[in-house]
Amino acid sequence: MSTPSADLPIDETSRARLAADGLRLRIVDGTDAAEYEGWFLAETRGFHNARPSAEVIAERQRNLGPDRRLVGVYDDTAGIPEQPVATTICWPADLTVPGLRAVPAWAVSGVTVAQTHRRRGIARALLEAELRTARALDLPVAMLTVSESTIYSRFGFSPAALARDVTVSTRRVRWTGPTAQGQVRLVTPEQLREDGLAIVERVRLARPGQISYSGHLWTRQLGLSAGDPSAPKLQTIRYDDADGTPQGFAVYEITEDPSDFADHRLAVKTLVAATTDAYAGLWRYLLEVDLVSTVTAHLRPVDEPLRWMIDDFRAVRVSEFDHLWVRVLDVPAALTARTYGAAGRLVIAINDPLGFAAGTWALDVGDTGEATVTATDDPADVSMSVNALGALYLGGVPASTLVAAGGLAGDAERLDRMFRAPVEPYLSIWF
Ligand SMILES: CC(C)(COP(=O)(O)OP(=O)(O)OC[C@H]1O[C@@H](n2cnc3c(N)ncnc32)[C@H](O)[C@@H]1OP(=O)(O)O)[C@@H](O)C(=O)NCCC(=O)NCCS
Repeated sequence: MSTPSADLPIDETSRARLAADGLRLRIVDGTDAAEYEGWFLAETRGFHNARPSAEVIAERQRNLGPDRRLVGVYDDTAGIPEQPVATTICWPADLTVPGLRAVPAWAVSGVTVAQTHRRRGIARALLEAELRTARALDLPVAMLTVSESTIYSRFGFSPAALARDVTVSTRRVRWTGPTAQGQVRLVTPEQLREDGLAIVERVRLARPGQISYSGHLWTRQLGLSAGDPSAPKLQTIRYDDADGTPQGFAVYEITEDPSDFADHRLAVKTLVAATTDAYAGLWRYLLEVDLVSTVTAHLRPVDEPLRWMIDDFRAVRVSEFDHLWVRVLDVPAALTARTYGAAGRLVIAINDPLGFAAGTWALDVGDTGEATVTATDDPADVSMSVNALGALYLGGVPASTLVAAGGLAGDAERLDRMFRAPVEPYLSIWF
């Protein structure tokens, strides 16, 4: 059974625009094996990935959630006409916002255009279609993680949660953090299939920027998806607290240095901890693995406490990058979905070339942090681009940064008192 997100008819404006160029924009039936294979091969090629085996294609099709909306652009004159020349896959997911709650958001993924058809407006037609589709589904926000950070600003998206890669020179460090009270256990990926996802789900609302997910987005973290070449090297550990309750897990891979067996590298693929005790237990274990001199961790939060738990701060190098991009589509629904740090009334003028968020809006925040939002003719206290609104939305980007960058004019201090979240936004996966 499919859902409204998969069934809603294709966007007519973009369909007509592409039809004028001889291209067919249409929904792809993910339940039809041949249709799906054509779409999946095009998407895989679009990201320059290896051609998937029949087993991988079949597994991905089997695990396709009924809410997945697959879209393709077809060119009957193309060399392989059964494969689309452009793809997207979108679905509704819960995006955590400040206030320990979530907003329904349109996850946009799999955006590819074949090399033979690039730079003639196909991605624009697809993106605009997906934003209108999200609006038609009453989803107030769209979101994506990006291959290149140069593409999506023009559609009103902005980085809202940053992330870090971390490199630790383990020979330099001695653990000075708390002593964990529980135990790290070696487990199989299969053992984490349910326990691990339950922990992910338990911590999801504590961090703005996290999204709800399952299926392939989860199993691939454990190396449990068919055809994963890295699977045999993955190690999985679980942290159980003093009562024996699972409170965290990590997935990592060790790469040998053939010229020095004491100089291996350990790459942390995933580390999720529901308690500070589990966090300390898992990190300490990883930093003390024998024969390893360097530990790297990809996609970590910008407020990672690790450096404060070891005796050499400079043994940890970090590099920061944009990760989750957010686009507000429905201002009242998006802004009332979160809470705010200070009470008061703020009139916000928003400039949105695509129209979705444009207007002047009164944000009234009560003493509990809950807000109401109404359209108003009152003079604006602050004015900003829809991109700036997306950057502010999860509470991680300071308004003063946006004022300096030119996307926002007004009282940055007041905006920060209202919009900044007590915890930095963070998304722990790619999608
Ligand atoms: C990125 C990609 C989807 C763009 O497709 P496209 O059909 O060539 O894009 P369009 O012709 O619709 O371009 C739309 C706009 O984006 C700009 N643009 C497109 N790709 C861009 C890029 N990689 N960097 C910067 N700008 C880009 C265009 O210049 C155009 O700008 P304008 O409309 O403001 O003048 C395509 O190049 C691709 O498939 N790349 C590889 C896979 C990938 O990285 N996908 C993105 C996943 S997040």
